[in-house]
Amino acid sequence: MPRTDLIARFRDALLAADWTPDAVLQRIGEAGQAGLWRNTTIATEAALGTDDDPQATLARLWLLQQSVSHVDAERALPGLLSGLTEHGLLTDLGDRVAAAVDVRPYGSDDDGATGWVVSDLSPSLDHSGTPTAPDYVLGVSPASTTLAQLTVRRPVARALDLGTGCGVQSLHLARHVDRVVATDLNPRALELARWTWGLSGADVDGRLGDLYAPVADDLFDLIVTNPPFVMSPPRPEAERLTYRESGLTGDGLMQRVVTEALPRLAPGGRLQVLGNWAHLRDRDWAERLREWVGPEFDLLVLERELLDPYEYIEMWLADAGLTGTDEWAPRYREWLSYFDALGVEAVGMGWLQVIRPESHRAGVQRVETWPHQIVQPVGEAFAAAGDAATLDLSAERMVNTHWTLADGIDQETLGRPGAADPEHVVLRSRRGFCRAVEVDTALGGILGACDGDLSLGVLISAVAQVLEADANALRTEVLERWPALVLDGFVEPATPGVG
Ligand SMILES: C[S@@+](CC[C@H](N)C(=O)[O-])C[C@H]1O[C@@H](n2cnc3c(N)ncnc32)[C@H](O)[C@@H]1O
Repeated sequence: MPRTDLIARFRDALLAADWTPDAVLQRIGEAGQAGLWRNTTIATEAALGTDDDPQATLARLWLLQQSVSHVDAERALPGLLSGLTEHGLLTDLGDRVAAAVDVRPYGSDDDGATGWVVSDLSPSLDHSGTPTAPDYVLGVSPASTTLAQLTVRRPVARALDLGTGCGVQSLHLARHVDRVVATDLNPRALELARWTWGLSGADVDGRLGDLYAPVADDLFDLIVTNPPFVMSPPRPEAERLTYRESGLTGDGLMQRVVTEALPRLAPGGRLQVLGNWAHLRDRDWAERLREWVGPEFDLLVLERELLDPYEYIEMWLADAGLTGTDEWAPRYREWLSYFDALGVEAVGMGWLQVIRPESHRAGVQRVETWPHQIVQPVGEAFAAAGDAATLDLSAERMVNTHWTLADGIDQETLGRPGAADPEHVVLRSRRGFCRAVEVDTALGGILGACDGDLSLGVLISAVAQVLEADANALRTEVLERWPALVLDGFVEPATPGVG
């Protein structure tokens, strides 16, 4: 059967068996779903009991990694067993059938992306400790979901999904991008991603190769990636886990991902990366990240977590399935010596956005530690930060602009119980990055009055008069703080495009 026909009939069978996100979630329950995120199957097994209907059969194959009888498999996937076996999706065990890859329903409440994701079977289900193969294709992970949530979902013409793996980012991109290109170094990843896209009806141009080599002549409006950023000691290529390690020294892969993206960004084009970076002895980490980008690009880095070498190494040794094995301690020591030799004192984990400005101007660059609570999806917050960077924040322009306070800002007051005045007044956003800023009476009053009616200059004079303060001094003070308030999304120009 031609592959396109096989994909179409496979999709029909998945729909007929109700192998869809909501139906499967309902079948296995929240405990089953949570267990699967922890790589354990017992709760799902309990939910299925002894059922042998098509949906239960598919759950046994793909969620529990159990073989099923030929008869049950044929009932769930009628007329498809030989085709799927020939293409390496199923394994024929005689009178039984097992899954050779995972086929999982996918649905996102954030943007409505739906479909099926094809990836390798988890090697550590129920802590089985099967070694992970170097060409292992990871399914949808927490990092995949986070990257999807931080991606700016605006309609654009061209996007690149760099290191597509199981192809999940492209399922999202295909909804708001005219032409999606996806690359991967691992041929197996592209092979499985093509199943993901085919089953899910996503039109994606998959290309094999190292980083940007397959798109050398292309320009993009959006590039998204959670590349293989794990900074592990060098290993022979045959032993390297392609989904997480690059073989480059330290954070060299992250540096290449960022620097080599720059010439491929169209004017206004955006790179969004989820990754790791090194904090090196005697080097300012933020400065290093700024150097990767250069002064003519906008840069926003939010470091969400900082791990010391011990925490970092333990996390990735566990991810490779080495916990409890004889290799754990020697690998741990080797990794520590490697970090010591490189001068890696800690590893930052977080999100990075680079934008090529549309007009010729200096880049607006912010590299920050932001471990605080946020509200996902934060894609719109990244979009707003990019928009704010395009505003003219000269003193004259700021005072003449009419501003509005953004939606979802609360005022918090802190102080001694019974005191007449609070000791601290904080404005905090309930949205996106949940930014917070401490204000005094004057600044709080001005921000509170920002409803688009009066210019900032007029508001400053009015508040100075009410507080009997020096208007010039207040103007200087407010203008010093205003750019950060704009870039953090507390205020926006009342008329879009003006600022
Ligand atoms: C962490 S996985 C991310 C998969 C997917 N983007 C997601 O969100 O789930 C990283 C992917 O990058 C691919 N990769 C590794 N080295 C690469 C390279 N040098 N060039 C392109 N892709 C690479 C791996 O094969 C893997 O599929």
